[in-house]
Amino acid sequence: MEYQAKELFAKHDVPVTLGTVVEKAEDARAAAEQLGGRVVVKAQVKVGGRGKAGGVKLAENPDEAVARAEDILGMDIKGHTVHRVLVAPTADIAEEYYFSFLVDRANRNYLCIASIEGGVEIEEVARTNPDAVAKVSIDPQAGVDDAKAAEIVAATRFPAEVADEAKEVVKKLWTVFLAEDASLVEVNPLVRLGDGHLEALDGKVTLDENADFRHADHAAFEDTAAADPLEAQAKEKNLNYVKLDGEVGIIGNGAGLVMSTLDVVAYAGEQHGGVKPANFLDIGGGASAEVMANGLHIILGDPQVKSVFVNVFGGITACDAVANGIVHALELLGEEANKPLVVRLDGNNVVEGRRILVDANHPLVTLVDTMDGAADRAAELAK
Ligand SMILES: Nc1ncnc2c1ncn2[C@@H]1O[C@H](COP(=O)(O)OP(=O)(O)OP(=O)(O)O)[C@@H](O)[C@H]1O
Ligand SMILES: [Mg+2]
Repeated sequence: MEYQAKELFAKHDVPVTLGTVVEKAEDARAAAEQLGGRVVVKAQVKVGGRGKAGGVKLAENPDEAVARAEDILGMDIKGHTVHRVLVAPTADIAEEYYFSFLVDRANRNYLCIASIEGGVEIEEVARTNPDAVAKVSIDPQAGVDDAKAAEIVAATRFPAEVADEAKEVVKKLWTVFLAEDASLVEVNPLVRLGDGHLEALDGKVTLDENADFRHADHAAFEDTAAADPLEAQAKEKNLNYVKLDGEVGIIGNGAGLVMSTLDVVAYAGEQHGGVKPANFLDIGGGASAEVMANGLHIILGDPQVKSVFVNVFGGITACDAVANGIVHALELLGEEANKPLVVRLDGNNVVEGRRILVDANHPLVTLVDTMDGAADRAAELAK
């Protein structure tokens, strides 16, 4: 959220004004009084376009600040409920710029995107006047040194009177990007104030959770209240689970296999009234009964799920171990296992694996030999 991004900016000396975060409208009064009366009240949600949605409002005095906070708290902005607002002093804005650093996967680089025509219309600018948006690629080995900062400032065509300060801000934002292990640092608007100085009036930062072990302080940024409850449960169990919109629960071992399973299920679903995958779940190697039970528990806990497709390729963990895992998981789950399971096993020790499942003869389990066949059966059952 903006206020958290600004905390990270402040830590690395990017010019910002932190303001005060409140969760009750009445608390906006004291915050506004402390900040000198004229303030802006800003919805704190993890989505862009808050301003256009009515989530950013000016207030001339503390009474108005309370009224605006009342308006904004509880608002729904693109599916995000506003639980807190930032009360910040009103800035004297001369110009609004757009600035960002992000990961450029296609080019295996970092990328800076910047424009002197920033503000809430930046998407429109990018569409109608792409020449006004500078894109400067950054060699990950070299990063942003003085020369690269100068290149960015020149390419963006920052006005001469702010160019020197802009170079400093660019380097500090790069420090945020690098030192915090971010995959996105975005400032829109970065403003030139009436006094000629620059300030980040907004901030969006995406942190790479793979680097969490380096950043104990990042845990505090997580919005546990807003997280999907099934995803939160999965995280607790160390499972790689992503909730999706469909009806066919998916369990597989290995991210690549699970990704292709989503594809074949979506494809097969077209023949069965458009059913779709309900989730991504990679149980990884070593599919023990416990891991399988944890995975099934989470998938069966999704009321949208109508059938489950277990797609496992036996490797180091052979198919017989996985088959035993499935059988024992169903025992562990008991009554909770109440939706049809389509199982496709292949790979190491597949004959023994299939034999175990055939012998167990569980009423909910259907064994299908091929991935396409199993996807089709799971989609049909879901329909
Ligand atoms: N502290 C402030 N003082 C005065 N005006 C402000 C302040 N903060 C924001 N604004 C104005 O409100 C606009 C929208 O605010 P902000 O960029 O923070 O929210 P946003 O609409 O969510 O942005 P985005 O579309 O980039 O996600 C800014 O472009 C700016 O004109
Ligand atoms: Mg903005």
